[in-house]
Amino acid sequence: MSVTAVVGLQWGDEAKGKIVDLLTDEHQIAVRYQGGNNAGHTVKFEGQTYKLSLLPTGILRPGVTAVIGNGVVVNPEALLKEMQGLTDRGLPVSGDNLLVSDRAHVILPYHMAEEAVLEKSRKGEAIGTTMRGIGTCYRDKAGRTHAIRVGDLYRRETLKSRLAEIVSQKNTVIQAFDPSATPLNSDEIYANAIAAADRLRPHVVDTTAWLHKALAANKNILFEGAQGSLLDIDHGTFPYVTSSNSSAAGIHSGSGVPERAIGRMIGVVKAYTTRVGGGPFPTELDDPIGQHIRDVGHEYGTVTGRPRRCGWFDAVACGYGARISGVDQISVMLLDVLAQLDELKICEAYEIRGERTTDFPSHVDDLEAAKPVYRTVPGWKQDITGARKLSDLPTGARQYVDTVSELIGKPVAFISIGPDREQTIVL
Ligand code: IMO
Ligand code: MG
Repeated sequence: MSVTAVVGLQWGDEAKGKIVDLLTDEHQIAVRYQGGNNAGHTVKFEGQTYKLSLLPTGILRPGVTAVIGNGVVVNPEALLKEMQGLTDRGLPVSGDNLLVSDRAHVILPYHMAEEAVLEKSRKGEAIGTTMRGIGTCYRDKAGRTHAIRVGDLYRRETLKSRLAEIVSQKNTVIQAFDPSATPLNSDEIYANAIAAADRLRPHVVDTTAWLHKALAANKNILFEGAQGSLLDIDHGTFPYVTSSNSSAAGIHSGSGVPERAIGRMIGVVKAYTTRVGGGPFPTELDDPIGQHIRDVGHEYGTVTGRPRRCGWFDAVACGYGARISGVDQISVMLLDVLAQLDELKICEAYEIRGERTTDFPSHVDDLEAAKPVYRTVPGWKQDITGARKLSDLPTGARQYVDTVSELIGKPVAFISIGPDREQTIVL
């Protein structure tokens, strides 16, 4: 049996999907354990590009069972649309290759409506969410009184009356923030929810029990993290985070599989840093170099299309992410994007109000005040997209990866030098 987890160590978009895809050959089961359709995972192989959001990337491999665990928030219509998209491209999705936890919480239209008014109501900088109802659904999960789980969709009578109560109260809240908002209709929400539930029925099981049987049967399981460790609700740059434990901390709670079952924890980092949405970002580059990285790295959101904020690699932030997630190895992605720069900078410490530290601050005000202390390293000014082994890389590129690894304190397992599967150096 082998259980592997792949988690992002930055603010998401670390190209986790590519590493997950590479590893799925060795695994029979791929599990998502947190987040929802705020994630955007791009996988390229055999000349095809697949963009997945809620579905585990493992679904792309024949013979792999993809599992949406209890910690995920599921928008049934978004899920059905994504499933249909794959079926249309000749990758059928059935009860044999996709399971959805009956404990997962359901995102319903009022979650999006509520999020829209809440985001607007903030006086400070907006969190800049993906507007997918993620935070409002997790809010209801924690609050319990207004929550609907996947399993509730199959208890029709109670569902109908609960939705009537919930929707009327949500309308009150939404209209208190925005009197011009059109009230939501609970009958319509109910009708759409049960129609979607019927279509999802073959997939819905107690995934926790199912995963434990798989463990007992020595199956190889791969956990796919969405977002990144710095967006974790507890350990990230609160409140500029997502509403789930997007570090490895979420695996146990979001799947029911204890962390001690995991044999290999891979932390994924980009060779630079990006962030979408609000919040402090010490190494951000608001200059032509930042724009160059954005252009070369196609740093525009897969889910919302927003331009991503770009900056130098931040070893303080990634080292922290690596410790929180307990990673054994790191995977350095998009190294090719840095190829044309004369020199590169890596943040090795912060200076916060005159004091130098390598600790990641717990309060955003301190992170906002952090000035990066950089180590400057020479660029390599050479295309590396054809490299297939470490010795194919120019010295500068190898030194760059070594510095990243040294500062994080973990060995490198993979280096990615292009979007395709083959453009990967396995160490
Ligand atoms: P993947 O899986 C990058 C960010 C949003 C926002 C904050 C909260 O592709 O790495 P939310 O809608 O989750 O409440 O938004 O989190 N965010 C992501 N940033 N990659 C993601 O996913 C993200 N999912 C959410 O931009 O700042
Ligand atoms: Mg993304």
